[in-house]
Amino acid sequence: MPVYVVTGANRGLGLEFVRQITQDSSNTVIAAVRSLQGELDDLKDLASKAAGKVHVLECNTGDIGSIHAFGDAIKGPLGGQQIDYLLNNAGINATAEQTSLDMTPESLRQHIDINVMGPAETVKVLLPYLGKGSIVLNMTSGLGSSEHGVLTSVHRRPKCTTYSISKAAVNMLTVHQSEQLKDRGIKVICMDPGWVKTRMGGDGAILEPEDSIGGMLKVVHGVKNEDTGKFYTYTGEEVPW
Ligand SMILES: NC(=O)c1ccc[n+]([C@@H]2O[C@H](COP(=O)([O-])OP(=O)(O)OC[C@H]3O[C@@H](n4cnc5c(N)ncnc54)[C@H](OP(=O)(O)O)[C@@H]3O)[C@@H](O)[C@H]2O)c1
Repeated sequence: MPVYVVTGANRGLGLEFVRQITQDSSNTVIAAVRSLQGELDDLKDLASKAAGKVHVLECNTGDIGSIHAFGDAIKGPLGGQQIDYLLNNAGINATAEQTSLDMTPESLRQHIDINVMGPAETVKVLLPYLGKGSIVLNMTSGLGSSEHGVLTSVHRRPKCTTYSISKAAVNMLTVHQSEQLKDRGIKVICMDPGWVKTRMGGDGAILEPEDSIGGMLKVVHGVKNEDTGKFYTYTGEEVPW
């Protein structure tokens, strides 16, 4: 009976993870959301069809107190079970128009807090529930790769700077977490979902959420020991750092 934890689970790619995971009724999902007062209708609808297998808890990944409270609140729904898949999905790209020459310290701090401190602290807090065979996925982006397209896109359109910096940092976080968790049998990878039609991806995006997440779950389910610490696309190709 696999247990999944998904952050940012109320909409976009996080919601699609929950939708696909709950198609197998033996799965349990802890669906973490920024605020229990947020936009939860679609998630609640999925939960109501999942016969008690979806537990909605609050976890604001930009707030250390909220992440620690989540670590306490998760004990009940886990009921002594291990987390098999921790999907660190929550993220923002809030100041796409800012470049390296006009980005604000506030924006840089906010992106580092939510996109980097969030998955870092979530892993630390949930460590007691991770063990041999657990897989951690840190959601990244092609914009976090120096080699894969980002240089060309920087020349063409020098935008999304704070977001790109935060995703490059989450890539390095993945490398460090994977090294430190190897001996415990915990594997950590980061993945680029592609350019997907969500609120973040926008209407011009090329992929449907079901195709991106279908591919990602296939990759996540096939992660082997030698794959830990690597960066993949949603189709399972390795991405250069
Ligand atoms: N869509 C793409 O093309 C694309 C491409 C590359 C990478 N990604 C990555 O994929 C992940 C999901 O993106 P998406 O396209 O689904 O974005 P989205 O449609 O904007 O959804 C973002 C999700 O993250 C949540 N979130 C934002 N701030 C949070 C916080 N402080 N604490 C907890 N949850 C928070 C949002 O919750 P609220 O509703 O409460 O705000 C929402 O559930 C992100 O990490 C993103 O960087 C997406």
